[in-house]
Amino acid sequence: APGELQDTLGRPLRDLRISVTDRCNFRCSYCMPKEVFGKTHEFLPHAALLSFEEITRLAQVFARLGVQKLRLTGGEPLLRKGIEHLIELLAQVRTPDGQPLDLTLTTNGSLLKKKARRLKDAGLQRITVSLDGLDDAQFQRMNDVGFPVGEVLDGIAEAQAVGLAPIKVNMVVKRGANDDQILPMARHFRGTGITLRFIEYMDVGSSNGWRMDEVMPSAQVLTRLRESFDLQALSASAPGETAQRWGYADGGGEIGLISSVTQAFCGDCNRARLSTEGQLFTCLFAHQGTDLRGLLRGPADDAQVAQAIAQLWQRRSDRYSQLRAQVDAPQSPAGQRRVEMHYIGG
Ligand code: GTP
Ligand code: 5AD
Ligand code: SF4
Ligand code: SF4
Repeated sequence: APGELQDTLGRPLRDLRISVTDRCNFRCSYCMPKEVFGKTHEFLPHAALLSFEEITRLAQVFARLGVQKLRLTGGEPLLRKGIEHLIELLAQVRTPDGQPLDLTLTTNGSLLKKKARRLKDAGLQRITVSLDGLDDAQFQRMNDVGFPVGEVLDGIAEAQAVGLAPIKVNMVVKRGANDDQILPMARHFRGTGITLRFIEYMDVGSSNGWRMDEVMPSAQVLTRLRESFDLQALSASAPGETAQRWGYADGGGEIGLISSVTQAFCGDCNRARLSTEGQLFTCLFAHQGTDLRGLLRGPADDAQVAQAIAQLWQRRSDRYSQLRAQVDAPQSPAGQRRVEMHYIGG
């Protein structure tokens, strides 16, 4: 729309991903490896966290700037005390023409069985659950805390029962670790109304020891699926969507392929990320954020906060995944560490 906020590549701001805690009860090797995030790792102190009121104030400012979707992330967002109350507050946020925002949350599912009903009652619309496989022994190894897969499946069932819909399941595919789960996962979720999405293992952060040979390109995932199922390409349901959608020809629902490594989707990336302590990141692979907490706790009024965010977005030129694809081995400049996934929420 004319007069609408755009970055230097003409991309609008539509999606705000809010990390509500940097803690997690899992230690997935590709995100919070135990060797790095062990007993001595220091998480953020409580006073550093944005309060629910601060988060809500920011969300309302972002809605005025064009944001239409809020996603709560972590770490594990259901570990944040009183998360239901934050959801109640965010459900009141409106776009300039009076519409509520798309309000959703990405969780590892471990607390979902207990919390799904309360989340729904608080005003959460839908939910995305991360699940990397169905084989219990392998799942327990991957989360590295011995959490049983059955409890996550119970959580998904409960989310479905209380009407948190549509449900999406995200599976990070790591070659040699869980690619044998592609077909079992597809069979399991086919026909359930739940959309399974396969995510390419990404070089996020600086702790996971990422290697290209552990990435399973989406094209190979698709080839494997098509040996068992008749799939047809579907068109994108929203501009800037992360997943390419494929539908089962017999009406068994759909799957998604998120190909952030082999087919970067920076071209229409409309996402901003807010860290637990109020740093704003305009790319998942950024080295640095911009502090908004100081602004919120100072004398600035909402119009001034909005102006600061607008200026930041107008200067934005991030397209990390696209640039990575153009060179062989992406190297961080010496001494600079990229922001970690559990801090920024994926
Ligand atoms: P929907 O509205 O449900 O489609 O959500 P979404 O796809 O925006 O969010 P979700 O958290 O489910 O994203 C799935 C995964 O895609 C994330 O966990 C990341 O691994 C990856 N992803 C999401 N956004 C970006 C992005 O901006 N850049 C890159 N490189 N990867 C992303
Ligand atoms: N590559 C791809 N996806 C990742 N996630 C966490 N770390 C990575 C990574 N290195 C996913 C989680 C979850 C979402 C928040 O991000 O599995 O689905
Ligand atoms: Fe695993 Fe998600 Fe926790 Fe990271 S934040 S360790 S991906 S469950
Ligand atoms: Fe957006 Fe950065 Fe991801 Fe590209 S790499 S899609 S710019 S967050």
